[in-house]
Amino acid sequence: MVTTDYLVIGSGIAGLTFSVKIAEKFPERKVIIVTKANEDESNTKYAQGGVAVVLDKEKDSFKKHIKDTLIAGDGLCKEDVVKLVIKEGPKRLKELLLWGANFDTNASGNLDLGKEGGHSEYRVVHHKDITGYEIERALLKRVHQLPNITILPHHFAIDLVTNHHIDNYKSETLSCFGAYIFNQNTGDIFTIKANSTMLASGGIGCVYGHTTNPVIATGDGIAMAYRAKARIKDMEFVQFHPTALYEEKGESSFLISEAVRGFGAYLRNKKGHRFMPDYDKRAELASRDIVSQSIDSELKKSGDPHVYLDCTHLDIEAFKNHFPNIYKKCLEHHINIEKDWIPVIPASHYLCGGIKVNKKGKTTIDNLFACGECSRTGLHGANRLASNSLLEALVYAHNIFKYHSKHDCKSPDVAIPDWNDEGTTIPEEHILIQHNLKQLQALMRNYVGIVRSNKRLKRAIKHLDLIYNEVEDLYKESKITSSLCELRNMINVSHLIIRQSLDRKGNKGGYYNIDNAKK
Ligand code: FAD
Ligand code: SIN
Repeated sequence: MVTTDYLVIGSGIAGLTFSVKIAEKFPERKVIIVTKANEDESNTKYAQGGVAVVLDKEKDSFKKHIKDTLIAGDGLCKEDVVKLVIKEGPKRLKELLLWGANFDTNASGNLDLGKEGGHSEYRVVHHKDITGYEIERALLKRVHQLPNITILPHHFAIDLVTNHHIDNYKSETLSCFGAYIFNQNTGDIFTIKANSTMLASGGIGCVYGHTTNPVIATGDGIAMAYRAKARIKDMEFVQFHPTALYEEKGESSFLISEAVRGFGAYLRNKKGHRFMPDYDKRAELASRDIVSQSIDSELKKSGDPHVYLDCTHLDIEAFKNHFPNIYKKCLEHHINIEKDWIPVIPASHYLCGGIKVNKKGKTTIDNLFACGECSRTGLHGANRLASNSLLEALVYAHNIFKYHSKHDCKSPDVAIPDWNDEGTTIPEEHILIQHNLKQLQALMRNYVGIVRSNKRLKRAIKHLDLIYNEVEDLYKESKITSSLCELRNMINVSHLIIRQSLDRKGNKGGYYNIDNAKK
């Protein structure tokens, strides 16, 4: 067993920001970051558009950013949280700059500000179209400079350790004591006992197969917290990004940033009609829920597999300068944006819900914190405003840091039993895991997508139960593998999305059920 002051699960913007802050403030305290892939692999690394922060004091204001966030969230945001996050933005961005992150500047030397759907002003700070890559680079560099942080790549958190793992532990409250960790290099499973544990394990995109997210986004932290009996909320609000690059063969995952629409690109159907003004007066810059639902409606009417993003009227040199990665990726697909329209379709992108936390980032389990995409703070309500996610992670990492600066979390001195895998064998039937995964992703795409119905949701629950039973049997008899754990986690997360969808009465933001629309 390994002991530490702080166990951080995940090395994206949320986990790294908290680790840097706490390690800088308390050099005598020990931080361990476990992360299941290479240390930089995360949703953060792929963020394109940027970080939404109010910087232009002449045209923009906190009031406007707050209003835009509340409108996007469709009445379900927690207004006090929205105010807190947005007002903290400039300070948190300053820290990121101090840690060495570089953002684009304009001719006058000020930070260049982009615009995205749902924003009434230019306020998105960016590094070309690879903002997340730059943030991840800068944070990891700082992490490596701090001797009291140990980062363990290819270490998979399997489950949280709570009261019920410990014999004769009597307490009124549920507490977290750390986690069971699977070393993917050696196959060993060991315990990390921590005074404070933070889930910073990111999103759930892979539940849908067709997603902008990388393969790590399997909802592990949410599933672990759910199994540990933490409160999970707003799971029905899965955000579909309107413009993932459509690929005829296979499932596309490359994102064409919303900032491209902010730059002036139009959405057209196959006939060439620019359809967004028919749906919303903000046209291509309506919030994401509206643009994705409008594309879905166009595709259902026409039977076409995708719509198009037209950039041919834009200043191409400026486009290449702002979006070099997107320009290059399109060329690799034989799409020359100077003359070709880009085929695009909506893909699962972001989870607005997750592990319920208060303003200090505390979950409903003692000594367990959650931050970033796995958490539900109340900022996003029913639909996240573009580029508010990186901002939320920065602000909440700071809030959790502030809490720990004032409160010394102490885990009681208890004996945690070792992981017990007696009687299990190495799973020979990898094909079963793959098969169940494909079934799960098809089920979520077909029955729990952008437009839902009660009938489809109920059918989804029935099918999911079958997959659940098969996978639980496999889990009980098998030695741990990451793919088996991830599948199990994705099943838990899917269950939460479907159940909480069925519980939602009325349509809001990213949640659209045709049965609610009829009422
Ligand atoms: P992540 O960055 O996803 O990090 C999660 C970490 O947890 C990873 O290191 C992962 O390996 C690790 N992990 C997961 N499970 C386990 C486990 N069981 N054991 C150990 N480690 C584990 N947001 C914006 O605000 N602006 C943007 O421009 C923007 N663009 C985006 C573009 C794309 C293509 C995508 C996919 C997302 C974008 N987002 C954007 C959303 C934003 O990037 C994410 O919400 C944010 O980066 C999440 O950060 P995080 O630290 O919470 O999680
Ligand atoms: C994008 O660049 O379109 C993604 C922005 C976001 O998800 O906030």
